[in-house]
Amino acid sequence: ATRDRRAGAGTGAGAEARAGGGASADLVFDPDAFTESTLTVKDTGGVAHEVVYRFHKVASYVADPVDATYQSLNVSVPVRIDGTAVDASGAPILLANGIGGYMPSSVANNTGIVASGMGGGTSRQALALAAGYVVVEPGARGRTLVDASGIYYGTAPAAIVDLKAAVRYLKFNEGRVPGNVRRIVSSGVSAGGALSALLGASGDSPRYEPYLRALGAADASDAIFAVGSWCPIIDLEHADMAYEWCWGGNPLSGGAQVDPAVSGELKAAYAEHLASLGLRAKGFGALTARNLDAYLLRTHLEPSATRFLAALPDADRAAYLAANPFITWTGGASGGGSGGGSGGRATFSWADFLTHVGTRKKNAPSFDGFTLATPENNLFGTGTTKARHFTLYSLRHESGDSARLDADIPAKLDLMNPMHHLVENLNRDRAKHWWIRLGTKDTDTSLSVAGNLSARLTSLGDDVDTAYYWDAGHGADLDPGAFVEWIGEVSG
Ligand code: DHB
Repeated sequence: ATRDRRAGAGTGAGAEARAGGGASADLVFDPDAFTESTLTVKDTGGVAHEVVYRFHKVASYVADPVDATYQSLNVSVPVRIDGTAVDASGAPILLANGIGGYMPSSVANNTGIVASGMGGGTSRQALALAAGYVVVEPGARGRTLVDASGIYYGTAPAAIVDLKAAVRYLKFNEGRVPGNVRRIVSSGVSAGGALSALLGASGDSPRYEPYLRALGAADASDAIFAVGSWCPIIDLEHADMAYEWCWGGNPLSGGAQVDPAVSGELKAAYAEHLASLGLRAKGFGALTARNLDAYLLRTHLEPSATRFLAALPDADRAAYLAANPFITWTGGASGGGSGGGSGGRATFSWADFLTHVGTRKKNAPSFDGFTLATPENNLFGTGTTKARHFTLYSLRHESGDSARLDADIPAKLDLMNPMHHLVENLNRDRAKHWWIRLGTKDTDTSLSVAGNLSARLTSLGDDVDTAYYWDAGHGADLDPGAFVEWIGEVSG
């Protein structure tokens, strides 16, 4: 990729001139520049809707892009749904990032909304459009981008800086851009879910200011209203420990075992980390390595299995329970016919649950790999260095006990970790509405990662809707229609 610096737009000095002189002229949204198209959107009940919408392409959401292929966004605005005119000028805005794997994500070549979702279903964006909301799809730089001189320009914190710049662009254009910029709801899955959560947790944090200024980001707030986060890959500097605490006893698929000494050391370190976090949950008090399994079981996993089983026809539930005798089903009517699920409750032990999941996906350490080969090692690359260690544990395993992390790493970890903005450095300008989802068979990260996020937000008093999807794997979204309804409820 080539760097796309616009002639005349310098870095530092240029950005300051813009901020001072109100010269963000090229960041003014043009409501009259759009194409109009019709999209058929099948809702979650299978009913097709005809949506006429305006599609606006914004060449860049910053005045001085490093690479506008990624630093651009598209705005989709419904104007007619099933033949009835709609006015989306005050509608919530779904800010749907398509980031995966902390990779670069571009929307520059899109000519319309992304309508197809996972598994042949309807995308979250299309469902939101058919609900009358404005949909913004931002691109963002990612970890693999490298310029002609070999410099990595999409590593941390580039992606979150870009998403913040996109929010600032929308807020700077309040009144010009369709929709209510005070009702921005972010969504993303996995790395995109992580960045969505981070965007919500870190709203208006001054720590990103120098990065935003260097891009000529619009002079506006980057705080958002609500967050949707599916299987967030967050808390990266503790993710290796969390992974061993959760999946440490499971073999890799194929049966290979990870190094038990490494697994054991990381698992032990997680206990100390948890103690330092000071998380609490209703009915459990302080969350520690001793009761975190019970918290996950009672608060997330058993309710997940209960919902799954209660929704099954009686015969299917009976078959599932027969095939999975580790689950005890109590209280539900068990007679013939259907409807016996209501009132029933699934219980099981943590150990049996782990056996049920059966395997682990990643080796140990899972995130800060000893050989610097993980996506996250690349995420923390810098300059011409593709990949670096970001935990003392993995660094010292390779380089000896006196090795020190590169000096910029701790600050970059803070910039990438939503927990930092919710625990050590509590951010009052964070989003206050949270939709958190995770599959119970998602072994891309520890099940405690989303659980800890949910527990922390809940104790802060935020409006948190967390659910684990029973037996679902990485990236699952099993209630997309409910999310779209939730946007309407919280935004009202
Ligand atoms: C994603 C998955 C991972 O396992 C990971 O470590 C980072 C990102 C993803 O799907 O986005």
